[in-house]
Amino acid sequence: MTLSWTFSPPAEAEVARRQLGDPRARANVRWLSALLHLPPRSVQQTLKETGAFASIDQEIHDRLRTGGRSNYAQFRAPLELYTIVRTLRPEHVIETGVSSGVSSAHLLLALRRNRRGTLHSIDFPTRQRGARLGPSESPVSLPPGRSTGWAIPPSLRRGWDLRIGPSQRVLPKLVAELPSIGLFLHDSLHTSAHLTFELETVRPKLVAEAVVLADNTTWTGQAFPRFARRVGSRMHRRGRGDLVGLRLDPRRVPAPSPP
Ligand SMILES: C[S@@+](CC[C@H](N)C(=O)[O-])C[C@H]1O[C@@H](n2cnc3c(N)ncnc32)[C@H](O)[C@@H]1O
Repeated sequence: MTLSWTFSPPAEAEVARRQLGDPRARANVRWLSALLHLPPRSVQQTLKETGAFASIDQEIHDRLRTGGRSNYAQFRAPLELYTIVRTLRPEHVIETGVSSGVSSAHLLLALRRNRRGTLHSIDFPTRQRGARLGPSESPVSLPPGRSTGWAIPPSLRRGWDLRIGPSQRVLPKLVAELPSIGLFLHDSLHTSAHLTFELETVRPKLVAEAVVLADNTTWTGQAFPRFARRVGSRMHRRGRGDLVGLRLDPRRVPAPSPP
């Protein structure tokens, strides 16, 4: 058995990735294995399920194209999100930053397969100004006539708790309502202060072996590594990208809050 075979995603996951139309969405088995503390073979077993929803990924891709987004680079690890939720089987998942909804769709797919759990998403969208995306505009803005989560097939939206507004205002209220959080994904405003705010807001409700993820950490400085040290968990970077994650270690007692 060669090392590269050991860490390759199975053929079914490749099908789902191709349907999404972005080569960067190749699942990273090594990252999942380290993050979830599971052998690669077990990760690959769960990843195999993603081939079953290749037609849904094709639909998401087609929807993105009709909105003038030729790729979905806004989130590059959708198949990993699916695998994490299938592994953790969380009751409550929170994500901040939805945009077209690639990450949300894959979290919803996994929760549906689990037959339990709710996705709570927060988004404070910006809108594209004209019919076409201007050179200074972000591709995460909403195309004309679209709303948050516009690429998500309607069949997946049942039971989805989507809240519109800045996470500075919405997240504390949401966290206060929930008994626990099994998975948290930050993909909203990428500043160090904001990421720290979100991580510290969800921390008291995280379950013992919760997974915490943050995308685009190139822009958030030491916020995530600082949080990892505070909760006594190792941070795992996905390949050479800037999506990072950690899994809480139930044996570690968190350090006290900074003043
Ligand atoms: C990188 S995109 C999210 C991409 C998404 N996860 C996906 O899979 O396509 C960031 C989103 O966060 C929103 N956002 C920015 N600042 C925010 C804030 N303070 N609170 C909530 N959402 C915010 C942006 O408008 C945008 O829709």
